Amino acid sequence: MQKITSIKGRLIYDSRGNKTIEVDVITDNKYVGRTSVPSGASVGRNEVINFPNGKPEQCLMAINDNYKKFLGIDPIDLKCIHDTIREIDNTDNYSNIGGAFAFAITIAAMESASKFLHVPLFKILTNKPKLEFPIPLGNILGGGLHAGIGTPDIQEILICPHGSKSIRDAVEINFNVHKELCNVLYEKNLNFTGGRSDEGGWAPEINNEEALEASCKACENLGYVLGKDVSLGIDLASSTQWDPKCEQYIYKHNKLQLDEEKQIEFVSDLIERYKLIYVEDATHQDSFEAMHELTNKFPNVFITGDDLTTTNKRILSHAIKSKSCNAAILKVNQAGSLYDALQFAQHANENDIKIITSHRSGETIDSQIVHIGISTGSKMLKIGVVGGERISKINELIRLSEYDLIHGMTQL
Ligand code: PGA
Ligand code: ZN
Repeated sequence: MQKITSIKGRLIYDSRGNKTIEVDVITDNKYVGRTSVPSGASVGRNEVINFPNGKPEQCLMAINDNYKKFLGIDPIDLKCIHDTIREIDNTDNYSNIGGAFAFAITIAAMESASKFLHVPLFKILTNKPKLEFPIPLGNILGGGLHAGIGTPDIQEILICPHGSKSIRDAVEINFNVHKELCNVLYEKNLNFTGGRSDEGGWAPEINNEEALEASCKACENLGYVLGKDVSLGIDLASSTQWDPKCEQYIYKHNKLQLDEEKQIEFVSDLIERYKLIYVEDATHQDSFEAMHELTNKFPNVFITGDDLTTTNKRILSHAIKSKSCNAAILKVNQAGSLYDALQFAQHANENDIKIITSHRSGETIDSQIVHIGISTGSKMLKIGVVGGERISKINELIRLSEYDLIHGMTQL
């Protein structure tokens, strides 16, 4: 039987220049699985703790103190690896060792198993016979916590090339729209410097509506028909605007204050006016009822939970019961281990909740989320458009499109 023969953790740096953890899991002294851990800026309250006390060094110490417990385990036995992690830290939120520990060891072990078995990672994460490509969802314009002061309150405007017939077409459409949007922004705003947000979307000093108008114009200039070839989506990351004391959403740039009811009207108007196909965290992380209203009103739009559901199976059950979303973000490090995240995905799939596997705003050049997105039957893969840490994922998607194991693009 193949066995994990060594594990080595180290501190490296993410796309924001912050320290993070990288782990090598080696099988039979030969097959190296390597994973590094991303970090969020708009972090949901119910996410697990990425690093104990916010310190990657403490997570590394936990790896050094405990790695021997994993030696001898079959790297493909994800449940056994997860259970071993749980013997070390059984807190709900991995506060003793950090979710990063669980994230890195489980993914690196599976990567090591994939090398040992000479099969791609996505194949060992599922036994589904029919796999499809998720549609790459790209950030073209950033605001909120991902960009500087003066940028839109909406955290992300996203392009979804759902009319594409192939991964290459889809990826090229996203590049084209991102490039054309830059031209539109230069024409519109003399102060635009070409600055970009954490995830590579443009970061202009304009308001929400101007940002959406410019994004629509970029698509139209290229001859793409909104709603047919491509559609726009948004991530409002609404918990970052919500002030629980006055129970209002505070829009600093647009100088608006909205209560829950007005927020629903505001989002409904954006969906209708810009034909949005995708809206993430339209209301704050505890507002299951408000999200239900939107889910009910727009059954054909991806009404998506991110901070709402935080890749947490128990919270997803609550969202399913209250019909608060029809789609949910999967970010492995919101959950902790890959095992936790796959449990979440299974629960989502069994309840017709569409999965969107997503990067974080602080990323590394790893690309395992592409495999995770395919194996979990994700409808979309939120991996950005430009920037080395985004491109590494897009290029992995291109490589995987050579596999005829996967039967074309998913249909929305
Ligand atoms: P992050 O958020 O900054 O926490 O990665 C991105 C998102 O809200 O989707
Ligand atoms: Zn989000």
